[in-house]
Amino acid sequence: MATYLPSRINGAVPELRAMNEALLQAAQTAGYAPSIRNTRPWRWRLTGSTLDLHLDRSRVVTISDPDARLATLSCGAALHHARVALAASGWKVKVLQTSDHSDPDHLVQLRIARGTTDSFAVQRMQAILVRRTDRRPVTGAPVAPADLAAITKSVEAQGAWLYLLHPDQRHELSAAAEYARRTQLPDSPWRDELAYWAGGRPERTGVADSAIASPMPGRNFGNYGSPKVSAEDDQTATFVMLYGPGDTSADWLRAGEGLSAGWLTATELGITVLPLSATIEVPATREVMKRLVAGVGHPYLVLRLGTIDSADSTPPSTPRLPTDQIIDRT
Ligand SMILES: Cc1cc2nc3c(=O)[nH]c(=O)nc-3n(C[C@H](O)[C@H](O)[C@H](O)COP(=O)(O)O)c2cc1C
Repeated sequence: MATYLPSRINGAVPELRAMNEALLQAAQTAGYAPSIRNTRPWRWRLTGSTLDLHLDRSRVVTISDPDARLATLSCGAALHHARVALAASGWKVKVLQTSDHSDPDHLVQLRIARGTTDSFAVQRMQAILVRRTDRRPVTGAPVAPADLAAITKSVEAQGAWLYLLHPDQRHELSAAAEYARRTQLPDSPWRDELAYWAGGRPERTGVADSAIASPMPGRNFGNYGSPKVSAEDDQTATFVMLYGPGDTSADWLRAGEGLSAGWLTATELGITVLPLSATIEVPATREVMKRLVAGVGHPYLVLRLGTIDSADSTPPSTPRLPTDQIIDRT
């Protein structure tokens, strides 16, 4: 890959050049992260030996996510992917919270120093490449308790939590999902926004039809909104809630890091993941989600986990934004 380096860096010591290249590759790897409606609402600024992560408001779905919470969570997933890439290539990473009150969308700054190659992260790089949102019906064996424990541990290592919804809570989730669907569907600005991001965008964002095609009614993301959560469907699925201690931007960012870490572990274990954000998007059902976690934390995202009893084990991939639209180099 041709590497552009400004003259200031070209003349600098080789170490600075190596840092710049590692950070560039980390930002590129972050492009594989999941994001709400595949909006990729982040922008990286690479300056010499630092990499800054910004929320890109131009790609926030403002009707569904007016406070950019789910966009910030998506940025957290990108941040975790970048951290894995750096650890896999032998860099220690420091993530600095930014205190720039004039720019609240400047989320964090990454600084790196030489370390040793993390073999766990090297393995995770493989999972980054094959991870997908899987909207197919869950038809296989239930998720084993040991696997759920491993996914939970990965999420917790990032400072977020995972709560297993019990069978009776699944009925409540189902009712809330239906309420969210009935609230969103008649709302024409919401439908327009969904239509804008569904079917795939020319600039390679949005959810492509190939990623959402499904034999089950009610699962067509483009026409009907998010897949249904119903007690009849996905009998062997496990539903969990990603949640955590607070509702600040830093909390949502951390939740995204937890989502990425847990999802990569699930991928390694052959467990499919489907985020279901409608109940978080609608304020009334977000309150119901809060009650489901017994009011002890803030709910960030419902996840359906499961296994697929199918010879074809991989759903199609979703398009990615070109690098120059997510990374600025100065
Ligand atoms: C915060 C968040 C919310 C999401 N909500 C939904 C959802 O409600 N329904 C759905 O089908 N996919 C949902 N997704 C999955 C995205 O559509 C998916 O990550 C994106 O299209 C990229 O595809 P990929 O995950 O296969 O790379 C969500 C993802 C994130 C990060």
